[in-house]
Amino acid sequence: MATNREWVFKSRPGPKGFAPSDFELRACEVPSCGENQVILATHMMSMDPTMRNAMAGEDGAARTQGSQYWGFMNWPVGSVPTWRICGVVRESKAPGFEKGDLCLAMVPWRELNAVDAENLRKVPEGLTPSACFSCLELTAQTGYCGVKYVARPKEGDVAYVSGAAGATGLIACHSFKHLGCRVIGSAGSKEKVEMLKSQGFEAFNYKEEPVIEGLKRLCPDGINVCFDNVGGETLVWSPCAAPSRSTTRGRRSAGACGTSSRPWPSA
Ligand SMILES: NC(=O)c1ccc[n+]([C@@H]2O[C@H](COP(=O)([O-])OP(=O)(O)OC[C@H]3O[C@@H](n4cnc5c(N)ncnc54)[C@H](OP(=O)(O)O)[C@@H]3O)[C@@H](O)[C@H]2O)c1
Repeated sequence: MATNREWVFKSRPGPKGFAPSDFELRACEVPSCGENQVILATHMMSMDPTMRNAMAGEDGAARTQGSQYWGFMNWPVGSVPTWRICGVVRESKAPGFEKGDLCLAMVPWRELNAVDAENLRKVPEGLTPSACFSCLELTAQTGYCGVKYVARPKEGDVAYVSGAAGATGLIACHSFKHLGCRVIGSAGSKEKVEMLKSQGFEAFNYKEEPVIEGLKRLCPDGINVCFDNVGGETLVWSPCAAPSRSTTRGRRSAGACGTSSRPWPSA
């Protein structure tokens, strides 16, 4: 007999941040497949930093107003969060979708969901679900568009990316490189620095060397463009925030993407 389970958002994160006990897994009704719908079995769920805004209530949700996720933010306590998942079609009454198809959808966090065909996107052949989340979805769009249309580097620029080994940061590094830049990344461990170097970037560990020192050592003539994921000290030294600083040179532009280093305001 088919069963179903769902994740319930039980409590808002406290001052120490999000904890597993803020969620609870419970049994729920098995959905039936309506016309133009499929039954989608969840295979992989995406967890993204901006979900912290959704967990915080109205104040947090307001921080994302204008983004494509606005409609999914502000999770009420006791609700089942709706977010990005990749699933396998179990049953289909929708033309164009067959049992076994891998699809992306924005649905409640359940093992089984009945999903309207217009809310489904098939995973392109040959791509894994995790590659879809990282290279085709929000993360990649943010990294690539932030670099290309906000930071707007010129060929030959020296580009700095913070949080460079993270999901968005790595896409930003590759986007700068693709556009002809020399790329410097900062990351928080030896392994991450090595990984960045192995992909053709220069990198330093900001936990062992202050950002200003790392930047001065690797680019003594300064940086032209910056893609900042973390805020705080990094943003202080970015070309945008500090046009006269010794770390900047020539044309200056910066994309400020995230604030991972900052504690939540209520913390
Ligand atoms: N505006 C948008 O549309 C959009 C879209 C996607 C992401 N974002 C934002 O971009 C940021 C990164 O997201 P992501 O998905 O790439 O996350 P991620 O893969 O988790 O990467 C975040 C990285 O930040 C670093 N970090 C954490 N605390 C730090 C601190 N105190 N100082 C410096 N670095 C710190 C960590 O790397 P280390 O171990 O190297 O420190 C971590 O790997 C988030 O703030 C997110 O909300 C914005």
